[in-house]
Amino acid sequence: MSEQDEQGADGQLRTRKPRIAVVFGGRSSEHAVSCATAGSVLAAIDPQRYDVVPVGITHDGRWVLESDDPARLAITSADKLPEVDPTRATVTLASERDGSELVVHEPSAVPRKLGEVDVVFPLLHGPWGEDGTIQGLLEMAGVRYVGAGVLASAVGMDKHYMKVVLQAHGLPVLPYAVVTARGWEGDRPACVETIDSLGYPVFVKPARGGSSLGISKVHDRDELDDAMAAALLHDPKVLVEVSAEGAREIECGVLQGFAGNPPDTSVVAEINVAGSHEFYDFAAKYLPEEQTVLTVPADLPEDVVRRVQELSAQAFEVLSVEGLARVDFFVLPDERVVVNEINTMPGFTPSSMFPLMWRASGLDYPALVDRLIQLALHRDTGLR
Ligand SMILES: Nc1ncnc2c1ncn2[C@@H]1O[C@H](COP(=O)(O)OP(=O)(O)O)[C@@H](O)[C@H]1O
Ligand SMILES: [Mg+2]
Repeated sequence: MSEQDEQGADGQLRTRKPRIAVVFGGRSSEHAVSCATAGSVLAAIDPQRYDVVPVGITHDGRWVLESDDPARLAITSADKLPEVDPTRATVTLASERDGSELVVHEPSAVPRKLGEVDVVFPLLHGPWGEDGTIQGLLEMAGVRYVGAGVLASAVGMDKHYMKVVLQAHGLPVLPYAVVTARGWEGDRPACVETIDSLGYPVFVKPARGGSSLGISKVHDRDELDDAMAAALLHDPKVLVEVSAEGAREIECGVLQGFAGNPPDTSVVAEINVAGSHEFYDFAAKYLPEEQTVLTVPADLPEDVVRRVQELSAQAFEVLSVEGLARVDFFVLPDERVVVNEINTMPGFTPSSMFPLMWRASGLDYPALVDRLIQLALHRDTGLR
């Protein structure tokens, strides 16, 4: 019996459609964004080709069987953000002899099997989504999933280890120092001396943050205490990095190749924040009225574009990423290109940068979703 054969009530074998569990919501601050993304992905999956099971994770971490109505999950107004409905029936992922099955538990009813899951599509950002934790759960269950595995997710989330690995492979990153909460409390003068030696201005960032939360630009030593306190609220490990003064912010999409082929890179794009923002902060990222301009493709010399694409593919490979990634760069005034960071679960609404870059490269949103599902369906479970 092949994996997608199922025995009907009449004892006949039938080939069924691959079953895709789209998982969204979650415990991170990006719950509503994740729901909205799920609405777009659910609307883009072809029901002729796939069976879709929408699985929501509530704010407190419970898995429930959600509605497959994309409209319910859309962001329609700022005061009513979509969220996973906690009153819905609980779902669990149960390991069976020949795969993993979703089981629905309704009050005072016998647990109902939804059938074997072929691919889980996690649409979760940040901690418990993009950092290797849910990936570990899915590895334990032996189920295929979209995107990076445990190690690549965890390293991609940690700006410190990401730089260690990129640097070890000769990829260009900005000079930085790591300051821990213990170091900052125990020997602050030594930490300040290290930071001074980088030269101001510097950026102070939580090592495992996202959405620019807890990030400050520090112009001189006087601003350091406040910036460290803000970053330490998010993470006991803080990265202090030389500021890329006058740099352009450039991004590139990467998709894994099929059958061991090298990854594909998209056109590259540029982000320009409005003059009132000193950098691409939380408001510039998410509030539409902030007038951040995304230019796809970016107006850059051809050799710089090629360099960005090469470095994107290299970053994807040296970090052993699977599925997809968005690699973010600074192009310095002298046209040197440095990697800022890699995101293994980039923003994925149709108006997010990653889908926009792929659309400009000839792959529209439904085709992009389909490619990610196909990549996951074709991959091995266990060590790869
Ligand atoms: N070294 C730096 N030089 C200049 N700008 C920076 C630097 N580091 C971060 N920034 C600005 O802060 C934003 C957020 O930083 P980033 O490292 O990308 O964190 P996040 O994971 O929160 O997106 C960047 O998009 C950029 O605008
Ligand atoms: Mg960023």
